[in-house]
Amino acid sequence: MYTPPTVEELRPPERTLVGPGPSAIHPRVYRAMTTPVTGHLDDFYVEVMNDVQALLRYVFQTENEHTFAVSGPGSAAMEAAFVNLVEPGETVLVPGNGYFGDRMGTIVERAGGEAVSVDAPWGAALEPATVEAAVEEHDPAVIGITHGETSTGVRQPAVDDITRIAHDHDAYVVLDAVATLGGVELYTDEWDVDVVYAGSQKCLSAPPGASPVTMSDRAVEKVRTRDAPVESWYLDLENLWSYWGPDPGYHYTDSISTTYALREALRIVAEVGLDAYWDRHRRVSTAMKEGLEAMGLSLAVDESCWLRTLSPVGVPAGVDPGQVTSRLKSEYGIEIVGGLGETEGEILRVGCMGHSARAKNAVYLVSSLGSVLAEHGVEVDVEAGIDATRRTLEG
Ligand SMILES: Cc1ncc(COP(=O)(O)O)c(C=O)c1O
Repeated sequence: MYTPPTVEELRPPERTLVGPGPSAIHPRVYRAMTTPVTGHLDDFYVEVMNDVQALLRYVFQTENEHTFAVSGPGSAAMEAAFVNLVEPGETVLVPGNGYFGDRMGTIVERAGGEAVSVDAPWGAALEPATVEAAVEEHDPAVIGITHGETSTGVRQPAVDDITRIAHDHDAYVVLDAVATLGGVELYTDEWDVDVVYAGSQKCLSAPPGASPVTMSDRAVEKVRTRDAPVESWYLDLENLWSYWGPDPGYHYTDSISTTYALREALRIVAEVGLDAYWDRHRRVSTAMKEGLEAMGLSLAVDESCWLRTLSPVGVPAGVDPGQVTSRLKSEYGIEIVGGLGETEGEILRVGCMGHSARAKNAVYLVSSLGSVLAEHGVEVDVEAGIDATRRTLEG
């Protein structure tokens, strides 16, 4: 018989989570997670699922019936969107401007589709005219768009323009809202997007593991009239809907405690109101930006497509970003991270998401980052940064 390992009780370090996610969790959400688990088909639990669906429709700003939360991280929702919508042999345009556009391409190719990357440099948004030219050249069945690209801190503006171009050419649009749902204006129905997927652990501030998806009737019809079966058994929409639909039966055992948490997190957004929730993200991210700039740092993104829920801070010359992030963590308990993919070594990624998007975090981040950089020999005016952050928050 093998001997048991010695494993201590969990004692996580105290962290201020202001990176690209996960974000801080509201005490109400932690409390919801300790709610007793029932059966995943218990009448009580089916009501919980109905609540989650109704709340998600509000947060997605949609009336789509097919709105639910896949058990799994944002990548599971991403995969659910593409493996259902894309049939083998179909061409899919994916954004060429960041890490998560590349991931879309990988998933599309695994699903038997042909991914074509739309030209755009990392750090910039897609231009609708470039998308239109790519649509005319490649005649895609589906177009993927990253609403909030966390590897670069870019928000894709003009989603509705791209959707119009797609629909004029009979293509479907899939929108990655993992870093934007709840944090940035997003109007699924008004923008006429076919499929939107998200994550629970960013602007919604629930733990990772229950990832929202919404699909229009038009998208559902495409899935239902596929020739080839969906290659993923778990993520096949028909199977998911046999559980999340109006007559729930067993497909899988839902991540019940995480879904309780998501329900409470969504309830908080609904109580605050989506407008006010977006506004808080706007106010706190602006304060962070003003503070960082007043201190002498700069954001590596054009204001017109700044994501806000994630800010890309240019790494000052001569500084090792890894040393800065590890000192912030060990000395201040702050989590921010370096770049990802092409932005590695170029930027520090500072998040402003959900329950982490609070005034005290803006001040703490600016003052701590300033102090660490000053100790690394960077000329920063930490006091000016803190003043600007405070003034912006008050104004
Ligand atoms: C824009 C974007 N899409 C997709 C994902 C994947 O989400 P997850 O890490 O929860 O699988 C992330 C995660 O950071 C993301 O930022």
